[in-house]
Amino acid sequence: MSEHKNEVKLEDIVSLAKRRGFIYPGSDVYGGLAGTWDYGPLGVSLKRNIMNLWWQMFVDGRDDMYGVDAAILMNQKVWQASGHVDTFTDPLVECNTCHARHRADKLDDANKCPNCGQTGTFGEAKQFNMMFKTNVGPVDDENSVSYLRPETAQGIFTNFKNVVDSFYPDVPFGIGQQGKAFRNEISPRDFVFRSREFEQMEIEYFVKEENWEAEFEKWVELCKQWFTALGLPESSVHELEVPEEDRAHYSKRTIDFEFDYPIGREELMGLAYRTDFDLKNIERVSKKSMEYRPKDGSDSYVPHVIEPSFGVERALMAVLVSAYREDEQNGEKRIFLALPYDLAPIKVAVCPLAKNNEALVAKARDIYAMLKEQVGDVLWIDSGNIGKNYRKMDEIGVPYVVTVDFETLEGDQKDTVTLRHRDTTNQERVELSNLISESKKR
Ligand code: GAP
Repeated sequence: MSEHKNEVKLEDIVSLAKRRGFIYPGSDVYGGLAGTWDYGPLGVSLKRNIMNLWWQMFVDGRDDMYGVDAAILMNQKVWQASGHVDTFTDPLVECNTCHARHRADKLDDANKCPNCGQTGTFGEAKQFNMMFKTNVGPVDDENSVSYLRPETAQGIFTNFKNVVDSFYPDVPFGIGQQGKAFRNEISPRDFVFRSREFEQMEIEYFVKEENWEAEFEKWVELCKQWFTALGLPESSVHELEVPEEDRAHYSKRTIDFEFDYPIGREELMGLAYRTDFDLKNIERVSKKSMEYRPKDGSDSYVPHVIEPSFGVERALMAVLVSAYREDEQNGEKRIFLALPYDLAPIKVAVCPLAKNNEALVAKARDIYAMLKEQVGDVLWIDSGNIGKNYRKMDEIGVPYVVTVDFETLEGDQKDTVTLRHRDTTNQERVELSNLISESKKR
């Protein structure tokens, strides 16, 4: 993992994210909706790049992994069987003075209302279920109740048998899924860190019970490789062995990987040993066998599960925090995002030195078209002066800016351009024939 660690403030990240079109508050024009966020053009790309990298690393890049994309709305029995209807709760307290409601285990002072400042006004904590409840179809009764999924995991468990029947993989094997999850958080807070609508990337890795510890350790290492790919400094990621009383109802062992966010050290993702809890519950409620029949004719069994559960928003926030840099160039403060190449929403920007010279602009357009075809995420930029363009590109983490000038058109330097490097601000003269390979360098 990289070693750079910085002390960026949350408001710097939030401000840059909004100013430069990464992330906006949800329903902003109507005053917002707490716990929801909208991704702008650059945010969508950054998020997709993170999710695509994950899919490549954990699904497409492996022979033992299968991808699914299950429906968000599921039969209510899923959430009864999984235990979410009964136990997916957070403790809620209400202030008797101002009637504000708070999550009891997240209060700075357990006796003081953070809204009105009164002490001793909380009643008994109640358990509040975090699932969003809805009705499916035109009849509003108990049979039509469904929930927006609070984790993507159940869409994997419910397809375990389908995938086995279709592909008959050898154990161990895994099923991965990415997608939206919804939780009616009592106190959404800290930018996208605790949202009511967010995305998860989850894997259920099916193993023989006796192998769970060895497989768990392998996943610890794989998670660390993932953090390196995201550009997170090793010193900012910490393993927390979650004590039994704090573990989810289904887990016999959990490691939380925590990250040093500007809000403090908080959970980035979790790795849990879910035993055969979920498949056994499906058997119990659906009355269908979830047993796996080994190809060698040995006894059938219900596999146990290792679950690495990655939150996209928390990964994205950790990426932004790790990439955020401030330095000084020519006496001026500069902000830049040192994003890993694979994650950068835009890889190269192309800029003609003068936007009124037809020949120059035409040449720059040709270079832009060539890069667009070969590199993909390329931006055309011809507004403002060159220094301002560089600043803007630095702030959105563009690794390379190509400037096309009069020397590109004729003379000794014909068919060369200036290639500027984001992190060092160094500029070099590069031949057009080498530009593609240079601007794909990670
Ligand atoms: N299937 C297991 C599961 O959902 P979890 O620890 O509740 O476990 C997994 O959630 C990950 O999802 C967390 O580590 C975090 O990255 C992300 N996550 C959970 N709640 C979130 C929220 N309200 N906002 C943003 N991300 C969240």
